[in-house]
Amino acid sequence: MNSEIGINSPIGIFDSGLGGLTVVKAIRERMACEDVIYYGDTAHVPYGSKSKETIVGFTQDAVRFFLDHDVKCIVIACNTATALALPEITAPVPMLGVIEAGARAALAVSKNHKIGVIGTSATIASEAYPNVLRKMNPECAIYAHPCPLFVPLVEEGWLDREATKMVVKEYLTPLKMAGIDTLVLGCTHYPLLANVIGEFLGPDVKLVDSASACAAELESILKERGLLRTEGAGSETFFVTDGAAKFAETGSRFLGRDLQAIKFTPSR
Ligand code: DGL
Repeated sequence: MNSEIGINSPIGIFDSGLGGLTVVKAIRERMACEDVIYYGDTAHVPYGSKSKETIVGFTQDAVRFFLDHDVKCIVIACNTATALALPEITAPVPMLGVIEAGARAALAVSKNHKIGVIGTSATIASEAYPNVLRKMNPECAIYAHPCPLFVPLVEEGWLDREATKMVVKEYLTPLKMAGIDTLVLGCTHYPLLANVIGEFLGPDVKLVDSASACAAELESILKERGLLRTEGAGSETFFVTDGAAKFAETGSRFLGRDLQAIKFTPSR
């Protein structure tokens, strides 16, 4: 690691694949002057069905990659990696995940404190969201449900097909019946299903997207440490461990614009 790390160093953003681009989008919207380095572990995606040991190992590799690139902070944009690996890893720069930010945002909007959480099988099995939510507010009732079919549906671009609506109904009926007033979209891919999910749950259920909550938290951490850039155009560089062309094509859907500067980096 370089001792020159400071305000002009880039922010490292990590995801298992391309879903973390929703977090890149939220960070770029808030902090346009920052340089961003993205590492998408497309050779190993999905993490959501893998074991803790495997997810911790892959995340450690990503952290090493960022430290080699002299980042000033690391954002674990992947909910699964945040849930399983973040508590196990340390780094000499600030490191934050999406779960605490998402939980805090959910508690801020919920009125009846019946909160639904959806995510990959690994995220839900880890109980990371309920643990954090209960720590922040022991009174809240949490209804968590894994939604493993959502990731492939989003990656296929099936954002509002009939099949997607049926899967949404199947997964979310128990949460609707429980009377939740807030649903945490606890996976990078789920904000792209916000329309179908919102249609099914109705206007009284607020959808919380961890990506924007995480961007807001990152901004205050950088500001607090005197590391927030307020001048300059900002840049973005994307590294993937496999399939750069596919990443560019599908990634534009997540980012809402074309992706430039995609580089291959071998997985370690
Ligand atoms: N990025 C993952 C998450 O937010 C979803 C994709 C995967 O399973 O790797 O949990």
